[in-house]
Amino acid sequence: MSNNIFIETYGCQMNVADSEIVATVLQKNKFNMVFKPEEADIILINTCSIRDNAEQKIFKRLQELNSLRTKNKKLKIGVIGCMAERVGEEFFEHSVEVNFIAGPDSYRNIAEIIYKSDTERVSDILLSDTETYEDILPKRTLTNSISAFVPVMRGCENFCSYCVVPYLRGKERSRTTDSVLKEIENHINNGIKEITLLGQNVNSYHYNNTNFAKLLKEIAQKFPAPRLRYLTSHPKDLSTELLETIAKYDNISKSIHLPLQSGSNSVLERMNRKYTKETYKKLIDNICKIIPECTISTDIIAGFCGETEQDHKETLELMKYAKYYYAFMFKYNERPGTPAAKNFKNDISDELKTKRLNEIIDLQQQLSLNHNKQDIGKSYKVLIEGYSKRSNNFLMGRTSQNKVVVFPYDELTDTKISAGDTVNVKIIDCTSATLKGVIIA
Ligand code: SAH
Ligand code: SF4
Ligand code: F3S
Repeated sequence: MSNNIFIETYGCQMNVADSEIVATVLQKNKFNMVFKPEEADIILINTCSIRDNAEQKIFKRLQELNSLRTKNKKLKIGVIGCMAERVGEEFFEHSVEVNFIAGPDSYRNIAEIIYKSDTERVSDILLSDTETYEDILPKRTLTNSISAFVPVMRGCENFCSYCVVPYLRGKERSRTTDSVLKEIENHINNGIKEITLLGQNVNSYHYNNTNFAKLLKEIAQKFPAPRLRYLTSHPKDLSTELLETIAKYDNISKSIHLPLQSGSNSVLERMNRKYTKETYKKLIDNICKIIPECTISTDIIAGFCGETEQDHKETLELMKYAKYYYAFMFKYNERPGTPAAKNFKNDISDELKTKRLNEIIDLQQQLSLNHNKQDIGKSYKVLIEGYSKRSNNFLMGRTSQNKVVVFPYDELTDTKISAGDTVNVKIIDCTSATLKGVIIA
């Protein structure tokens, strides 16, 4: 049997990390990774179901990949991840032949699933209460960046009313502290310069007596070199102990992703977010007090069920209060089977959602620009990620505050620096998305 595998990843960073786990399991089973779909005998698409447009993108991609079958009659296509979990065996009724599906907790069996699909369509989408893949040391074959994602916990039990994730990723479970440390050590030995700890609610990590603050502290002490990041914080779990840990260690990124979703208490209650705008504001105050240089980013949903003009204004007000440096902004999209779909009317018209979303985006652009302007004249340590997107005469990296910085670089006159190095950069200009600077000694 030919065994060239191509894996394509959509969705969140958790999926990026999961694809590395799948690649590692497959390589152990003598499969060979290739980096172009045309060279593959088996194509895996790791999918996302968070909003309908994420799923539509996958269906379109399946059509495109299907055309490769005219050249390679034996090509197998498998769908893995959240959409395999949500759509399930209906994939087998799709016009594009899908040979197998595997959910997020079935990756240990991925080789057997592929073998079995020689003779039949295979579906393995059982969720587990315990699977963390903690014994699989991912080899990082799919990306060659300076940073690596390390999932420390999986699953979500928050059941925000709009969200499908708890039904696709199962119960919350944390890895052993030892397995996290071992994986990080392995990455560092392989030259990784930035480690991002991942979890749908990374702050609710808990193993024996180790909570997330203690885990982060242990990692920061043991591994002083790499920059440490963590995604995503849920406002209900962001403790003072954690903030003090972030403040104390230089190698922990001074940036927190703290999804707001809405600035109105009645909307937050219908969303089942378990905090109020007052407690969220207190958290912002606490972050600014304990880590004054910290940047804060967020996620916002426009036009949730029953959202009034007043609710929307409160979201805009809270955005100004928090002074986010960055935000992911979405129109509410009803997802089948969620409590919001069952209990509330999706009563905001698409036009009004678009109008409110645009107001949110416009405000965020102003906030980002103001935020960046305050950095002009200051100097930052920048971890270089590579060339800037636009030109090889510029390098691009990030500050500890997670802001993108570009700066000119001349291979002939500048001393040799490259991705993974840290340099001091003075900021001289900015846009709402990027800081521009020059290297200083
Ligand atoms: N676990 C993380 C990320 C969840 S998904 C967290 O809780 O923050 C990322 C973002 O997608 C969410 O924060 C939310 O803003 C958005 N999202 C989730 N479901 C959505 C839906 N049905 N419609 C629109 N946006 C949604
Ligand atoms: Fe979804 Fe809420 Fe869980 Fe985030 S915390 S994954 S938004 S249910
Ligand atoms: Fe999407 Fe699943 Fe992540 S639905 S956002 S890939 S957890």
